Amino acid sequence: MRIGVLTGGGDAPGLNAAIRAVVLRATALGHEVLGIADGWAGLLGEAEPRPLVARDVAGILGDGGTMLGTSRTDPRKDERSRRAVLGSIQRWRLDALVAIGGNDTLGVAQWLDAQGVRVVGVPKTVDNDLSETEFCIGFDTAITVVADALDRLRTTASAHHRVVVVEAMGRDTGWVAAFGGLAGGADLIIIPEIPVSGEDIIRTMKRRRAIGDPDILVVVSEAVEIEGLEAQTALDRDAFGHVRLDQRAIGAVLARYIEQRTGIEARQVVLGHLQRGGSPTAIDRLRATRFGNAAIDLVDSGKSGVLPVQRAGRIETATMADAVREVRRLSDDYIELVRRFAGVVG
Ligand code: F6P
Repeated sequence: MRIGVLTGGGDAPGLNAAIRAVVLRATALGHEVLGIADGWAGLLGEAEPRPLVARDVAGILGDGGTMLGTSRTDPRKDERSRRAVLGSIQRWRLDALVAIGGNDTLGVAQWLDAQGVRVVGVPKTVDNDLSETEFCIGFDTAITVVADALDRLRTTASAHHRVVVVEAMGRDTGWVAAFGGLAGGADLIIIPEIPVSGEDIIRTMKRRRAIGDPDILVVVSEAVEIEGLEAQTALDRDAFGHVRLDQRAIGAVLARYIEQRTGIEARQVVLGHLQRGGSPTAIDRLRATRFGNAAIDLVDSGKSGVLPVQRAGRIETATMADAVREVRRLSDDYIELVRRFAGVVG
């Protein structure tokens, strides 16, 4: 078989490890692999694909980013693009496609499956919000960045007896803020799954000061709505219609609010794309290797419209339809852990 591989949507640490696994497993089974540049934009015919063999993926296991490039491109947007994508698949004589991505990329992959293209997915998103899988590629590195940042910010917050508000990624859910915040010992974690008001936050700050806490670290998820606070509202949108959450500046708004309402000096740090950059953790390399390996086994056995997922630590198979049906919110056990260790006071 001739198998195309692409990475779509926001990049995430571990993409190269997944590409490597796809290439090594596919070539071991006697298949040919073509690397498609820049996600779905590549299938619109903007660049020729290139053959990938073992030596092309040697030494990339620990590299961040993606050797193939990526983009936020929705090729379903008009008839011309839809035809261009199907035309490229025919012209390049692709028997199958491996699409490594999150909700948006797998949504396009699902459409291609419905068009009769054999396509298998690989779950990737630092947001960790795909349904059917416990973990996605990139998440472990992102939460490690958040925890490391909190370790560093604790010392400077403590030196100045300040509040530091750390804004974490997470388009609809609090996975990154909750896991990163708990691992870094945040004093307060604000996520979409646990609604709070500005008054709740101020009461918590005052209580912590009253019991003698000199420094307070707050982690806030970029998408959070806080009753009584106005985030920025003039927001751009990407090709899939998602608003640019960084432009809401919720971290800055919250830090200013805390300072004005409590008189405690407050600073804010937006971790932003640092959470997606650099070398993947060992866990992300292993997850990417397992998912890439399993994706090729699914292609090899004739499957389509599916992806490997992790359930109770095991690699199993889910349909793309189920994986993208709804955004997976933080699990109840972690919501409770956040309430107990980094929640607002009653
Ligand atoms: O979906 C992953 C993600 O990193 C979100 O957490 C974030 O809101 C968004 O992508 C940022 O996208 P971009 O890289 O296009 O600014």
